[in-house]
Amino acid sequence: MSLLPYSLARPFLFGLDPETAHDLTMQSLARMQGTPLQWAYCSEMVDDPIELAGLKFPNRVGLAAGLDKNARCIDGLGAMGFGFVEVGTVTPRPQPGNPKPRMFRLPQANALINRLGFNNDGLDAFIANVKRSQFRGKGRILGLNIGKNATTPIENATSDYLVGLDGVYPHADYVTVNISSPNTSNLRSLQGDEALDALLGAIVARREALAVQHGRRVPIFLKIAPDLEPAQIDVIASALLRHRMDGVVATNTTISRDAVKGMPHGEEPGGLSGAPVLQASNRVIRQLRAKLGKDFPIIGVGGVMSAQDAVSKIEAGADVVQIYTGLIYRGPDLVREAARAIKALRAAR
Ligand SMILES: Cc1cc2nc3c(=O)[nH]c(=O)nc-3n(C[C@H](O)[C@H](O)[C@H](O)COP(=O)(O)O)c2cc1C
Repeated sequence: MSLLPYSLARPFLFGLDPETAHDLTMQSLARMQGTPLQWAYCSEMVDDPIELAGLKFPNRVGLAAGLDKNARCIDGLGAMGFGFVEVGTVTPRPQPGNPKPRMFRLPQANALINRLGFNNDGLDAFIANVKRSQFRGKGRILGLNIGKNATTPIENATSDYLVGLDGVYPHADYVTVNISSPNTSNLRSLQGDEALDALLGAIVARREALAVQHGRRVPIFLKIAPDLEPAQIDVIASALLRHRMDGVVATNTTISRDAVKGMPHGEEPGGLSGAPVLQASNRVIRQLRAKLGKDFPIIGVGGVMSAQDAVSKIEAGADVVQIYTGLIYRGPDLVREAARAIKALRAAR
């Protein structure tokens, strides 16, 4: 357990508006990272290495994208025992995101709803922060997640992704192409047959050029939604194989409200995360694994609130898992608990 139990900090943080609590936590982390104060919350990193997409992950539990959109706290978050950390989504130009309030807690459901809309400081600031971090040098894996600006018409989305890819490529262990946020108008239409084919074709072609330029082939993952029909999942799986993409991140937040009907904030527009996404996300993972074969890298994310939930993702077919909402509700101890449970599962197999 970390020196400062999260059970003490949580009532204070949950007494604040969710986005204020988030900003305050990130500011504290940014100040404490790399100083002796980091010991207050740092946690042992479980040693359970796995090779995936040509990368050596030190364990199977990572931080999901969106918590550190500007890559300001990579080292501080890394100290919580994550084997890998994914930061972003970053867009080419800075943008403010949607009007506040835009983040809501649903404690009865162990869930959040957000409609932040990729609020971020833009690619240049993001890369400057990534360059300052020490995390990658310590054998951990850093994923950089890219998206499109809200003001870029959806027909021009590819050009935003290519600008993002060019920028982050030299600084990433892997890049995630995020086409599944429900909070940027029409973004998820990029998951459709023709749009996806065109986008992946352009990205993979650019990657070939970047690999030559930088002398290193950086794996590229696609992040998809949990709200896909089985036929759509099949289309995506075929496209991933056809374009020789390196992996898939499944899944983002859901637009379904079935699990939170009648609850305070239950009808807020945006993406629902946490416990209610677990089954939907596991269903997508199961179908992807069946379609993609046993060797295709799958990063499972959505609703990991306990060690058992993390194990359920591995059992559904994920190679590694990521956590966001579970960290808000359970604190950093969840990272070690999940990593230990997954390691024990592997030992028992
Ligand atoms: C407040 C918030 C912001 C998020 N922002 C992003 C983002 O910028 N990019 C992204 O790919 N996913 C984003 N996500 C989705 C998470 O990475 C994750 O896929 C989703 O929340 C499901 O995991 P969870 O149930 O562990 O939270 C965000 C989630 C939350 C709750």
